[in-house]
Amino acid sequence: MRKFLTTTAVAAIMMGGMAGASAVHAAESVEVLHWWTSGGEAAALDVLKKDLESKSISWTDMPVAGGGGTEAMTVLRARVTSGNAPTAVQMLGFDILDWAKEGALGNLDEIAAKEGWDKVIPTALQQFSKYDGHWIAAPVNVHSTNWMWINKAALDKAGGKEPANWDELVALLDNFKAQGITPVAHGGQPWQDATIFDAVVLSLGTDFYKKAFIDLDPATLGGAEMKTAFDRMTKLRSYVDDNFSGRDWNLASAMVIEGKAGVQFMGDWAKGEFVKANKVPGTDFICMRFPGTQGSVTFNSDQFAMFKVADDKVPAQLQMAAAIENPAFQSAFNVVKGSAPARTDVSDEAFDACGKKAIKDLADANTAGTLYGSMAHGHANPASVKNAIYDVVTRQFNGELTSEEAVTELAAAVEAAK
Ligand code: BGC
Repeated sequence: MRKFLTTTAVAAIMMGGMAGASAVHAAESVEVLHWWTSGGEAAALDVLKKDLESKSISWTDMPVAGGGGTEAMTVLRARVTSGNAPTAVQMLGFDILDWAKEGALGNLDEIAAKEGWDKVIPTALQQFSKYDGHWIAAPVNVHSTNWMWINKAALDKAGGKEPANWDELVALLDNFKAQGITPVAHGGQPWQDATIFDAVVLSLGTDFYKKAFIDLDPATLGGAEMKTAFDRMTKLRSYVDDNFSGRDWNLASAMVIEGKAGVQFMGDWAKGEFVKANKVPGTDFICMRFPGTQGSVTFNSDQFAMFKVADDKVPAQLQMAAAIENPAFQSAFNVVKGSAPARTDVSDEAFDACGKKAIKDLADANTAGTLYGSMAHGHANPASVKNAIYDVVTRQFNGELTSEEAVTELAAAVEAAK
């Protein structure tokens, strides 16, 4: 008996101490693993929590800090390995497909058919929400990475003109330096370095981006143009402050918000931080595409991958999926998050100028054929390739590799990881 109790106690601990609670509320609770821990992200998540609570679904929160989700994915692996998958997990692109391949995900076909998801969720997202023809994840939003966020007062001091190309960007950063502020607010973490690299590569041409990161063409990865991309990273590195190493992305956003820095190159989740700080686009800050990438978009979509859970937990899981795809929720959530809706039929009315631009840019790039999955945020390649690219980009950014060495290493690392 004593032994039995001990085993039960251990099981309860492995369930995260929630065994008792979930036994009582099993039918109407969800456990959600995510990395939305910054001020803007938490505010957006709250919209979802409140929506579910209004439907009497209780929420067990499993936040794992770390932008881009690297840490969250490590924790998830441990959870699933111990036979204790959460109900729903925030996830990006190829990671979703990897979990589906392992047979770990549930099936949302019934709710998707009932609510007509096929007709309103763009194909670019469906390729990650479906596996083998079955719905496995509910997309929450569409973000994109080739953005730049500028402190408006600093830009005005520099003449007010938004930089249209690389040379104008460099001139603006020099001006910020002369103003005595940090030109580029950046956090030295591999995923943040890679986020800038997305934009820098895209600025050298959409074909170049596609050949490098979508096709993984060895000649492009190891070619002269890639050296130019790394040279530009070196140049940008010269504009960050001494304390950049390890800084979280939202603290870098705060530097721009507070006028301590001129610009941040970051996906549009950064806008969530500006909004949270009551800053207004066009008045306090400017959102624009990274110079040279106007007309193209590197996107990533946060989706909730739904794991296989006990039968009594499935109804709440399906209700969560339905709530996420509700058009009114899509508007309310994404206005706060900084992203565009994951459905094509949501009005842009409630969105600010940057949100309207995000929605329009996505639609235009989709029509023009210049919409690509973000390398840095798991929408161009599986994690093995992504991590190989992260490694080279970060070492080069930190001066451990010259541009020439980085080009050679990039081609070799991708080839080995493919
Ligand atoms: C996610 C965003 C998140 C950002 C920073 C990205 O990978 O798509 O939702 O805000 O990481 O944490």
